[in-house]
Amino acid sequence: MSRSDDRNDLSIGLVGARGYAGRELLRLIDGHSRLRLDHAASRSLAGTPIRDSVPAWPGDDVFIEATPAAIADRSADVLVLALPNGVSDQYLPLIDDDVVVVDLSADHRFDDAWVYGLPELHREDLPGATRIANPGCYATAAMLALAPLGATLETEPSAFGVSGYSGAGTDPSPKNDQTVLRDNVMPYQLTGHMHEREITHQLGRGVRFAPSVAAFERGLVVTVLAELSRPTDVDSLFERYESHYQDDRLIEVQNEAPLPRDVADRVGSVIGGFSVDPADHRRIGVAVALDNLLKGAASQAVQNINLSCGLEDLDGLVSGG
Ligand SMILES: NC(=O)c1ccc[n+]([C@@H]2O[C@H](COP(=O)([O-])OP(=O)(O)OC[C@H]3O[C@@H](n4cnc5c(N)ncnc54)[C@H](OP(=O)(O)O)[C@@H]3O)[C@@H](O)[C@H]2O)c1
Repeated sequence: MSRSDDRNDLSIGLVGARGYAGRELLRLIDGHSRLRLDHAASRSLAGTPIRDSVPAWPGDDVFIEATPAAIADRSADVLVLALPNGVSDQYLPLIDDDVVVVDLSADHRFDDAWVYGLPELHREDLPGATRIANPGCYATAAMLALAPLGATLETEPSAFGVSGYSGAGTDPSPKNDQTVLRDNVMPYQLTGHMHEREITHQLGRGVRFAPSVAAFERGLVVTVLAELSRPTDVDSLFERYESHYQDDRLIEVQNEAPLPRDVADRVGSVIGGFSVDPADHRRIGVAVALDNLLKGAASQAVQNINLSCGLEDLDGLVSGG
């Protein structure tokens, strides 16, 4: 298939289209006026109609084989890899340098040759970028909570995340087994989690992070506890976050603590629940909620594509872009 010849129409390929993130991407591509699907690849669904998996899919397209050779045979302006960690390097050597690649895995989040695609922190690096590492879902939430605190952090902050089970992907595991999770919350990997290293690497300072998974399907909340160098109060914290994110239309700041249920199916993130310890006004708490499959994965990828390709920031994500 040849590159798109319509300046207004970017062709896009997707590998890993069966997964949670891949299906969300198909839905977003369908609703995006400037993106046209060139190919969606899956090993297990190859040859089957996309509509069988994504009922609202408008055309007769079928999934193609997910092999490096099959993808190298195609030519699209943008390629999204929605694959498990450690697989992207099978594909990347066969992709032209000028194709915009967005990798949803952690494979390139520590690679300085790639742009780290968190628009609220790295917007200026995205225009023209052709290798974009999409951030992790918990890492996105934790960094949105920590960025406004910046140099006023006195000691190492802690972040505690609770995610819905879709965060564990579709490969069967106790972390996405609804029988195990029913009426339950499961803490896991309480030290050395990939997202702890990711947040620490990106912010350039130590952060503790501990995740849990719970019985709901999508959405997550991360609670950050921090000690600041100076006393503060709840109103000042609220104003600091509101001012920090005043130009970021996907970030909403509110007084109440945000809940995963309230952000499910939303492309943005909500920050709130500001708290200051009455016994020590330097000790604070803040909570961030987002949909792990959207702001934590697919809609963040689309925003990165928009910014990289010179489209409107929020094309295909909010009405009116
Ligand atoms: N789920 C989330 O909340 C979330 C959030 C942020 C980032 N991410 C990241 O996004 C990526 C995808 O996550 P997911 O939750 O969508 O995973 P998933 O539901 O488990 O889907 C994985 C996809 O990769 C394909 N696949 C697996 N192994 C493959 C291989 N060796 N070669 C080619 N295709 C392969 C699978 O389809 P076939 O088996 O049919 O080929 C499937 O389409 C992961 O790196 C994950 O860490 C996920």
